[in-house]
Amino acid sequence: MNVADFGDRYRERIWETHIAEDFERDVLAGLSAVQKTIPSKYLYDALGSALFEAIVLLPEYDLPRRESALLERYAPHIIDRSTRRLRLLELGSGSSQKTRTLIEAAIERYGSVEYTAVDISLDAVRNAAVQLLDRYPEVTVRALVGDYFQVLGEVAPQPATLALFLGSNLGNYPGERGVAFLRAVRGALAPSDMLLLGVDLRKDRALMERAYNDDIGVTAAFSKNVLARINRDLGAEIDIGNFKHSSVFDERTGSVESYLIAACVASYSLGRGRGTVSFAAGERIHIESSHKFTHNELRVLADECGFVERGFFTDEDAAFALVLLERGEEAAKISGL
Ligand code: TRP
Repeated sequence: MNVADFGDRYRERIWETHIAEDFERDVLAGLSAVQKTIPSKYLYDALGSALFEAIVLLPEYDLPRRESALLERYAPHIIDRSTRRLRLLELGSGSSQKTRTLIEAAIERYGSVEYTAVDISLDAVRNAAVQLLDRYPEVTVRALVGDYFQVLGEVAPQPATLALFLGSNLGNYPGERGVAFLRAVRGALAPSDMLLLGVDLRKDRALMERAYNDDIGVTAAFSKNVLARINRDLGAEIDIGNFKHSSVFDERTGSVESYLIAACVASYSLGRGRGTVSFAAGERIHIESSHKFTHNELRVLADECGFVERGFFTDEDAAFALVLLERGEEAAKISGL
């Protein structure tokens, strides 16, 4: 089955992105910086995305199961929070698997639902759309394919929207980037629209670190794949065997910081005409920040971005939370930007 089979129930719009050129430019800039870094969005090529699907099955990486359990428990309540909340706008929809709970609760409450999926991957969005359209005759799907910031900048607010940003993805936008992201979301919402965030909470260090350092090495394969991708796509000659994956909670940033660490001093070609990259023994490449939030931090962040907290739903051990925010009437505070 194809999205075209669903006629009026499916619409899509695709933004131009120049991923190939960006990859080369960002990798070269990141590896020539003093603190080497590779932007985390490049972890998710076809193989990386498949490995991430395996990560979510790891017993150590319990974030998705905690989030799903909270959605199962609170979806009807969240949908009920206000009248006529018929539009769902999901940022980073992926397979839309977890969203089903909310879609079902919305159908139960209102009889139908409009679902807008925003994602960087056209394939992911179309596959998810076919599944949803086939399964729920009460759903219409609008797919917006592109970078969040690009898409949000052009989405016209439609009243009665509940925006969704799940999977603790907000944690991958540390500091000012998170603020900018939430303000962009606010700009795409009408007054009294809502935003539901799924966020991983600050907890025991060992528990936080374990989620990113699994026993069978799936996470290590996932992060090393970004080096393999540099070899594949740019013709570089990085010896992946010289690198070890490591994720550590950093008290200073409040985030689990993930790195690839070079065991021995080495120098590698970056492919034709691009020179070499050199590593000292023990030198690290930063690949991801996964922020772990406190409730208070979330309140401050919401306030700073023009949202008001309307609900905070967490599990017994306060490991993960769903945070329901309402778009405040007051303009977002723009001091400091
Ligand atoms: N967004 C996920 C997170 O921050 C991605 C992730 C899980 C990840 N495990 C990882 C990123 C290991 C880098 C390395 O939780």
